[in-house]
Amino acid sequence: MLLGPSGLGKTLILDIIAKEYDSLIEEISWASLYAKSLPEAKKELRQIFQRVNNRDRSIILIDDFQYLSPKVGDMESHTISKLLSSLIDNCIGNHVVVIAAANSSDYDDTILKGRSILKEINLKIPNLNDREEILNNILVTKQHNLSAEEVKDIAVHSQGFSYRDLSDVLDDAETIQAFRTQNHENCDKTITFYNVKKALKLKKPSIVESSMKIKEGVIWRMKPYKKEKLLEIVEGPLKYPEIYKQYDIPPSRGILLYGPPGCSKTMIAKALATECNLNFISKNVSDIHNKYVGESEKAVHGLFVMARVKSPCIIFLDEIDALAPGRGSSGGSGVEERIVNTFLQEMDGIEELGMC
Ligand SMILES: Nc1ncnc2c1ncn2[C@@H]1O[C@H](COP(=O)(O)OP(=O)(O)OP(=O)(O)O)[C@@H](O)[C@H]1O
Ligand SMILES: [Mg+2]
Repeated sequence: MLLGPSGLGKTLILDIIAKEYDSLIEEISWASLYAKSLPEAKKELRQIFQRVNNRDRSIILIDDFQYLSPKVGDMESHTISKLLSSLIDNCIGNHVVVIAAANSSDYDDTILKGRSILKEINLKIPNLNDREEILNNILVTKQHNLSAEEVKDIAVHSQGFSYRDLSDVLDDAETIQAFRTQNHENCDKTITFYNVKKALKLKKPSIVESSMKIKEGVIWRMKPYKKEKLLEIVEGPLKYPEIYKQYDIPPSRGILLYGPPGCSKTMIAKALATECNLNFISKNVSDIHNKYVGESEKAVHGLFVMARVKSPCIIFLDEIDALAPGRGSSGGSGVEERIVNTFLQEMDGIEELGMC
C-alpha cells in the first residue's frame, strides 16, 4: 500500500510499474467499477480475477484505494469490498502481488491486512533538498532566468509543497509573466523570481487542509524576546541545519507552553506554524483518549504517521495535562501511562528537525 497525500507521485509509480511489467498487469479502477450497475461491476471484478488465475504471475494495481474501499462506505462499496477481498483470498499465492495506492488512511484495510500481505509504504512530502532538486528538474523544461540562489530560496519558502504543487507554482509564474507582458506579437513566459514569489503567495500546499494562516500582529501576544526564543527553537534547525550539525547541537523536539486557560497557547502554536511555514496538526485529548486497550496507542501512532507524512510539521497537543498526568499517578487503568510511553517511543523515532 503506497500511502501519501495528493500529488506525491503514487499514480506515477503505479504507471511506471504498469509499463515495466506490462504483460503481468491487471488494473482495478474504482471509477470504472462505480460507473456501472452493481451486477456489472461485480462481473468486471470477477473477469479481472479470472484472467489473474489463468496466468502464472500477475500484478494487480489498484489506484485511489480510498474510493474503491472506503472505511465508511455505502452498501455498494461494501459489497464491492467484500467481493474483492474474497477474490484476493482465492488467488493469493506466490504468483500474485497486489499494489494499491491511497491518499488518505480512510480506506478499509481489513481487505489487505487480515491476509498478512499489507506492507505500508509512506511517501514523504519533499524536504528542502528534494524541493530544490524537483524545481531544478522542472526548470530544465522551462524558460527562466532564476539563479541557483533564487531556486534555493524558492525551495526554502515552499515547505509542505508536493511535486504537483511545485509544478503548479512554476506554471502560475509563467502565466503571471504572460499577463504582465501581454502584447499581440509574442507571449513571454519567462519564469522570473518575482513571478514565482507572487505565485507562491497565492498557493497553499494541497496537503495542508487543516493548517490555518493567521495574520501576523494579531497572533503574537507575547514579549518579543520570548517570540524570538520560540522562533529560534523551531526555525533554527530548519534554516541552519549545517550550524546545528557543526556544533553538534541536538534540535529540540518539544516545547511545553504552560499557562492558565485563555492565555493564547493555541494561538501561539498556530502562529509558530504559520510563521515558520510548517504544517500544523492539532489534537485534543478526547481524540486520543480511549478506554479500550490498545486504541489510544493506535491513535498516537496514527498521529505520528500523519506527522511524518506531513513533515516538517508541528503537532499541537492541547491539554496535555489531562492526557498525561504525572507518571505513576494514573490510578489503576494505566491508560495514561501507556499513552505517555507511546508518545516517548514515537518522539524517539522522529527525525531531527534539521533533516526534515
Ligand atoms: N518524483 C516525481 N518525478 C516526476 N514527476 C512527478 C514525481 N512525483 C510526482 N510527479 C508528477 O506530479 C504530478 C502528480 O503526481 P501523481 O498524480 O502521481 O500524484 P498522486 O500521489 O497519485 O496524487 P493523488 O493522491 O491526488 O492521486 C504528476 O504530474 C506526476 O507526473
Ligand atoms: Mg493518484
